[in-house]
Amino acid sequence: MALLTEPKPSFRPPAPTPRQNPPSTLQMMRIVYRNPLELWGEPSYNEPWIFVTGGIGGPLLIANDPGLIRHVLVDNAKNYKMARVRQKILRPILRDGLLTAEGEVWRRSRKAMAPVFTPRHIAGFAGPMLEKATTFAERYEQAIGGRVDVSRDMTMLTFDILAETLFSGEVAGEPEGFAHQVDRLFETMGRVDPLDLLGAPDWLPRITRILGRNSLAFFRGIVARTMDMRKEKLASEDSEAPEDFLTLLLRAEGPDGLTREEIEDNIITFIGAGHETTARALGWTIYCLANLPEERERIEDEIDAVLAREPDPVNWLDDMPFTRAAFEEAMRLYPPAPSINREAIQNDFYADLEIPKGAQVLVMPWTVHRHRKLWDDPEAYIPSRFHPENRDRIGRFQYLPFGAGPRVCIGATFAMQEAVIALAVLMSRYRFDLLPETNPWPVQKLTTQPQGGLPMRVTRR
Ligand code: HEM
Repeated sequence: MALLTEPKPSFRPPAPTPRQNPPSTLQMMRIVYRNPLELWGEPSYNEPWIFVTGGIGGPLLIANDPGLIRHVLVDNAKNYKMARVRQKILRPILRDGLLTAEGEVWRRSRKAMAPVFTPRHIAGFAGPMLEKATTFAERYEQAIGGRVDVSRDMTMLTFDILAETLFSGEVAGEPEGFAHQVDRLFETMGRVDPLDLLGAPDWLPRITRILGRNSLAFFRGIVARTMDMRKEKLASEDSEAPEDFLTLLLRAEGPDGLTREEIEDNIITFIGAGHETTARALGWTIYCLANLPEERERIEDEIDAVLAREPDPVNWLDDMPFTRAAFEEAMRLYPPAPSINREAIQNDFYADLEIPKGAQVLVMPWTVHRHRKLWDDPEAYIPSRFHPENRDRIGRFQYLPFGAGPRVCIGATFAMQEAVIALAVLMSRYRFDLLPETNPWPVQKLTTQPQGGLPMRVTRR
């Protein structure tokens, strides 16, 4: 019998096919180094949890079940610390920044930083976000009809926005040099080294990290001088300091707040955690929408209507539910932080599952967001899942782009506001279309990156 209505076109963006057989140890190390997303087999997308013993890094638990995830990240969070491998990669760069701090230092820092991330301050960043996005978008005027790399461009855009909200452009030294150092630093240092997986001792040099050391020293020098410049300004009566992250963090300095070193660590943490993540999700959103022109038109209409009546970008996140949904669905399929890693401090139980002390626990938004038992048609890009009338059907612990529990992303509201403002500015003016060479492949580095970039054609709408 013929269908009365044609099924809506759907789009299944690229992703590795689940493995049918587990890899050998050697294969595994190679895959982990190249692209951990290619490691997971059918069970990882079907089972509530997988417990592996006898592996190279000790017992490993892959947690997909929302109840188990809630147990690890919220209900019994105090029994789980940041995983060894993650700390080995990130701590040399971020030290006691909020992402890598633990115990008392983390507790004190998180509390000291709460006043920095208030809704009032985030709303105060909407203006600079709009300004930077608008200036950035104007560059496309020179590229109309031509090819641009949307992935690289989104990194530049979110970096501009972050630099503005962090320092208001008041950086010691050359701003271009600064952006370049950031790229080098995270390219060379933010990698999983096979020696870390093997649990090799710290004194064994990691080739993946040696290269980044000079960058790190240079970079920390710039941040320290930038802080000094601002401190002078804050102390001076003649000049007014901007109300940006740097001023807010410096205000949190004190015996119950942050130390000078921790402020430096947190600035580097914000740079590390706060722009590439949003950039990846923006890039994947624009790519997915180019594959669904009808959906894209609907969003363009929404943006046009809101821009015509609401000039204040603070309200756009609430006023543009379709735009927001497109971004949230892109973060489901391509979670910018594809894995949240923990280690059990003491033996623990969940239902009939025993989690031994020292077990590595992986809560992977990558597999949870694509889990067959949690989602209909999990591989398809369907933004309407996140429309207001459907949103309540998505459980809190089946969708975790920003994590959950006490260590939930502190920048989530900032990122959502920024994303909708950036999409509104770009999509109100331009269209990005696929080219024959637009063939991104998702690769897990620190974030979920499109290998091959996102070469696309930009035209004026
Ligand atoms: C789309 C953008 C973003 C995504 C997907 C994202 C994702 C995450 C996730 C999953 C965590 C939890 C990690 C864990 O539990 O192990 C996290 C933590 C964190 N994020 Fe984000 N993030 C984003 C944007 C930002 C921005 C814009 C900032 C800062 C301006 C930021 C700063 C942080 C910090 C400091 C933490 C550590 C919080 C803590 O441990 O107390 N993130 N983020």
